[in-house]
Formats: sequence, C-alpha cells, structure tokens
Amino acid sequence: MTTIASEVKRRRTFAIISHPDAGKTTLTEKLLLFGGAIRLAGTVKGRKSKKFATSDWMELEKQRGISVTSSAMQFSYNDYKVNILDTPGHQDFSEDTYRTLLAADSAVMLIDAAKGVEAQTVKLFEVCSLRGLPVFTFINKLDRFGKDPLELLEEIEKVLGIRSYPMNWPVGMNYDFKGVYDRHRNRLEFFDKQDTQSRKTMSVNEALEQNLITDFHHQTLLSDLELLEIAGDEYDEDQVLQGQLTPVFFGSALNNFGVQTFLEEYLAIAPAPRAYISKSGPVDPVESPFSGFVFKIQANMNPAHRDRIAFLRVCSGKFAKGLSVYHIPTGKTIKLAQPQQFFAQERDVIEEAYPGDIVGVFDPGIFSIGDTVCTRGDIEYSKPPQFAPECFARLVNRDTGKYKQFHKGLHQLIEEGTIQLFKTVGGAEELIVGAVGQLQFDVFSYRLREEYGAQVAFEPIPYQMARWVRSGDRPLDVKKLQVLGVKTAYDSNDQPVVLLEAEYVLRWLQEKNPQVRFLATSCEETFLGIS
Ligand code: G4P
Repeated sequence: MTTIASEVKRRRTFAIISHPDAGKTTLTEKLLLFGGAIRLAGTVKGRKSKKFATSDWMELEKQRGISVTSSAMQFSYNDYKVNILDTPGHQDFSEDTYRTLLAADSAVMLIDAAKGVEAQTVKLFEVCSLRGLPVFTFINKLDRFGKDPLELLEEIEKVLGIRSYPMNWPVGMNYDFKGVYDRHRNRLEFFDKQDTQSRKTMSVNEALEQNLITDFHHQTLLSDLELLEIAGDEYDEDQVLQGQLTPVFFGSALNNFGVQTFLEEYLAIAPAPRAYISKSGPVDPVESPFSGFVFKIQANMNPAHRDRIAFLRVCSGKFAKGLSVYHIPTGKTIKLAQPQQFFAQERDVIEEAYPGDIVGVFDPGIFSIGDTVCTRGDIEYSKPPQFAPECFARLVNRDTGKYKQFHKGLHQLIEEGTIQLFKTVGGAEELIVGAVGQLQFDVFSYRLREEYGAQVAFEPIPYQMARWVRSGDRPLDVKKLQVLGVKTAYDSNDQPVVLLEAEYVLRWLQEKNPQVRFLATSCEETFLGIS
C-alpha cells in the first residue's frame, strides 16, 4: 500500500452537530483527552470562559466570550488520525457552521437526553443529509433526568426522518442510571460516578451477582431488548455509510461515560475520506494529485499580524509544506507557505497533510469560499451553496466620505462569506444583507470598522425568509413575483431571490406559481457530494 493510501485509510474527519448546551464542548474535550491532544480538562472550555487572555482569537470573541468561527483539531487514537471540525457553540448560528459540514466525511449528532432533537440540530442535520453524510448519534446527559429512550429514538425518526439503531441501551434512567448494555458485545458498561477514569465492563450476571443492578433493572432491560429486536431496525453498515441509518449511543460526556466506547466504535465504522465529486466527476483521494478547497476564511486570528487564514480541506493526494499549486479560479500559481494545523489551542506549522486533513494557509487576499487549489489544472470542485438567511437588514453606509472603504470592505467580506448581500429589483436599489444568525451582523460591522474604517448601520426590515427561485429552463421575470409581503432581489452571483415576510406568503406564492421552484439553498445540484 502506498503512503497516501495508508494515510487515507486511517483518517476520520467529522463535525459535531448539536444545539447549544447539549454538551459539545464537553464531548470534544473528552475526545481530545483520549487522543492525548490536551492534558487538562477545561482546556477547550477555556475559550468560553475567557481564560485565554493572551489567545489570538478575535477581540470580538473575547468581548463576548464566545467562539465566532469554527476551527479544526487533530488527534491520534490507536492507529487513527482524527480530525474534529469544531462548529461554533453559541446561540448565534452562522454560515460557517453549515460550511464546516462540507469539509467533513461524517457527523456526530449530539442530543441532550432531556431535550431531544432541538432546532439547530435539525438545521445541521439537513445539510448532512443533503451531502449523504453518515451520522452517528450520541445521546448525552444520561446521568440525570431524561426522556424515555424509545421516545428519543422515535423523535429522531419523526423529526429528522432517519432510522436509528441503538448500539447500546440504558439500564435505569433518571438519577437511577446504572450504565449501558452493549448490544454487539453482550456486556454491561457500568456507570460509576465516583470513578470516571476507568471503563468497567461485565456480563449482566456479574452485575447481578455484585448487586450493581437489581432484578427489576434486568427484567426491564430484557423486555426493552426484546422490543428492539421485534420493532426496531436491523443493523446494516451499508445503510449507516449512506446516511440512512444512524447508530445511537447513550452516555454522559461530563462523566466521561461511554465516550471511549463511542470513539472506538465510531472509528471502526465511520468512513475514511472518500472521493469528493468535482465538476468532472469523482476525485479519488489516493490516485489523484493534490487537490483541496477552501471551506472557511478566518481573518485576524492574530491581530498583531492582521493575517487571514484560509482553511483547506485536503481532498486528494499529498500536501507538503511550500507546495506550489494552481488557484483554479484565477489560474495563478501560488506557493502554500507556512501551512498550519491546529491542535486544541495551539497551531503548528506542518510538513505534510493527507486527504481528510484540514490545513490553514496564509491568505494574501486571493481566496474565496469554495475555491479549489490543485497541483494540476483540471480538478475543480463546485462552489458550496449559500444557505437561506434568517435575519435581514437594510445596510446603510453611515459615513459617505468613506464610500470607497465601504465598497471595498463590503466586496471582500461578501467574498469571504461573512454575510450575504441582496440587491433589490425595481425602484431605488437597496442593499439588503442577510445572515443565518444575528451575530454575523456584529462580526460584519466590527470588521468593516476595524479593517476598512467604514461605519455602517443596519435598519430593520420585515423580511424573515429568503428563497432562491428557479423555473426550469425558461428565464424567470422575478418582478412578477413581487406582491404584498414579497421583495424580489438578486444575490451576489446574480441569482434571483425572493425575500418573504412570513412562511404563509411562501405557500401562497407557490400556489399561485406552481411552475416556479423556491429553494432554501442557492444551488440545487448535490454540492460537494461524496461517492
Ligand atoms: P455546548 O458546547 O454544546 O454548548 O455544551 P457544553 O459542553 O458547554 O455543556 C453545557 C452544559 O451541560 C455544561 O454545564 C456541561 O457541564 C453540561 N454537561 C455536558 N455533558 C453533561 C453530562 O453528561 N451530564 C450532565 N449532567 N451535564 C453535562 P454548565 O453548568 O452550563 O457549565 P459548567 O459550569 O459545567 O462549565
């Protein structure tokens, strides 16, 4: 086996999708502890609790005590190299969160046992299913009150439309949690709140003999397992890999319970990097030359240097420090100097990287989201779509003397994908900005001021939804869609869009225009799919 083939085989790259407070930071930290990437619990949390006064994250992040942008971290476990793509863990949601999923080969869906499937999880899950990503579920916080496990499985199926297969099953619930029964290994993993370091596994009989569980626990477990056998889905790895069946694990991240077993099972089942689909077909990760695409641009990671880092997902071939590549959109050759990889809080210059890895490269202002870089000129990945914003405002330049700065900043930040811009049709042209989360507005205005010296204001407007419109092969006169409660506009790629005041307006519009399709993403075709 070639080096590239063996490196690809041992890579696993995933993002954790969850609603805030489900325990993503806690789970990430436990995973990193197993991988030896961090030594102290609390290291990842530090970002939230502002412990890192000297950290070089954006000032805004520090002010608000949150992580504005997502990053990637790598650790080793057994013979695997694991890349965790971190998605912001705050209430405000951004397009970055969605785009991170474009760089993942699988997703871990974290659910709070008491809350079930929550809103942000649903949105992120939809992106995973659009890409056909395998999704592994970890139901967290079993140590305290939670919904009935069967109810949780039903919720996953009803709300998300994916079938599930519990890999383990809780014994005792709601403060009487005794552990989980591993269905494949036929053993009990015992929950000991006093000792969260070691993994205690035993047969059910041993647990009964040692009075760790009662007859009642045993009988309940037997009837639950019988029910799962009769009414539940069968385990089918192919369906897992196609994103049609999610393996479900119960545990408690805070107590480090079930995390190691989850990690091991995940690593054994989850796919190694597969072929990304480019405009000219699937790109074999092993056989093809180096290629990758930019899924995120982070500005000012270090204010002292005012640098911009473009995050590349390596899709094929070997990446080496100082590699000269084609920047496909411009045809220019660029040298990828100072490539960096991220380990928890630190970043290190790296010598080489393989498919599945995330590399941060210095961006001299050339990169946009979705750009392909490749050592040969014939691979190009499609641009990722834009996702329908949910917050809108009219953008006003408050300092007309800084017209040039305003337009330069606006143009560059739109290119970077910080915010979406819509130009209205008919009447005086208005600039309407849209974002998936409110925080993107703050970041946008902060950066316009700090980096370009422009001052902007956001004026409230009544729109709550955006949909891209298509009508088969025939050109569409968007002005015709402009009725009460609807504004028609073009996005920054000149694609027609309608901005709507309420969901019922969309239903009405659809009824009146059955030939028109109203889309929640800017492109219909499968984007950055995997084969
Ligand atoms: P997030 O990144 O998804 O937003 O969640 P985070 O890990 O910050 O966890 C949210 C809260 O849930 C934290 O409590 C955390 O300790 C708690 N938590 C995580 N996993 C478990 C678990 O398995 N069991 C229980 N009982 N709690 C869990 P907090 O009080 O908000 O913060 P902290 O004071 O613990 O830092």
